[in-house]
Amino acid sequence: MSEHIVIERAGPVQLIRMNRPDKKNALTRAMYGAMSQALAEGDADPSVRVHVFLGVPGAFCAGNDLNDFMTIATGGEGGLEVWNFLAALVGSQKPIVSGVDGVAVGIGTTLNLHCDLTFATPRTVFRTPFVDLGLVPEAGSSLLAPAVLGRQQAFALLCLGEGFSAERALAAGLIYAVVGEDELESAVMAAANLIAAKPPEALRISRDLMLGSREILKARIAEEAEHFRLRLKSDEARAALMAFMMRKK
Ligand code: COA
Repeated sequence: MSEHIVIERAGPVQLIRMNRPDKKNALTRAMYGAMSQALAEGDADPSVRVHVFLGVPGAFCAGNDLNDFMTIATGGEGGLEVWNFLAALVGSQKPIVSGVDGVAVGIGTTLNLHCDLTFATPRTVFRTPFVDLGLVPEAGSSLLAPAVLGRQQAFALLCLGEGFSAERALAAGLIYAVVGEDELESAVMAAANLIAAKPPEALRISRDLMLGSREILKARIAEEAEHFRLRLKSDEARAALMAFMMRKK
């Protein structure tokens, strides 16, 4: 478990709240582990109908903890937590809603490609600086982003590392709605409760039909992971990670 992931229940809704505000919700291995466990337990519990991902005010998630990337880049152990989390996300049997406010970097953006409804506030910026970090897209985003956004907007997001404002993300089809900061959680909960009130089996089958083969997505995630692991040990990645570590010194 992780003190930085808070799991709550509100009737049929399971809330998974990332709660590491001093690091803008950068995700550690323990946080991935706690989120995987929550998804698995929620999927196995018939009284849970919907998973909800939330962050803290101003920070949904700043992506993978770059210190953990640095550990791998310098020859250390990486662990399987992130890959287990992605497997749990792709395999989720229940709909997923996310509420995004502020920082949404790396997996803080790509996680939403696995959500059925994403609400974001006007101050949110979605960004995936994979290439600038010497890395490659993850979480199946190399497959999902072109499908959702079209090739050119996906290139701007994944390869150029352009920031997508909430309005741009809405226009591009990355998110469902833009709502004010004060309304974010109530909008997310209203949507989650609406989903929870639907006939669960009809909903499950409909969602499965829309998702199609998860094997194709899992295969792409594995392919991305292969490149990602190698890229983390590249000179390009090491230099970019070092620049992040040194930027305040
Ligand atoms: N990994 C580890 N620590 C991170 C982090 C990350 N991904 N993102 C932010 N932090 C830490 C910062 O180091 C800082 O810690 P400190 O106070 O001990 O120095 C703290 O969180 C606050 O971040 P800061 O950069 O001061 O806030 P900001 O509002 O100026 O910028 C970001 C926020 C998210 C834009 C910036 O921190 C950033 O670019 N982070 C890296 C994001 C990233 O590349 N993620 C990986 C994608 S694959």
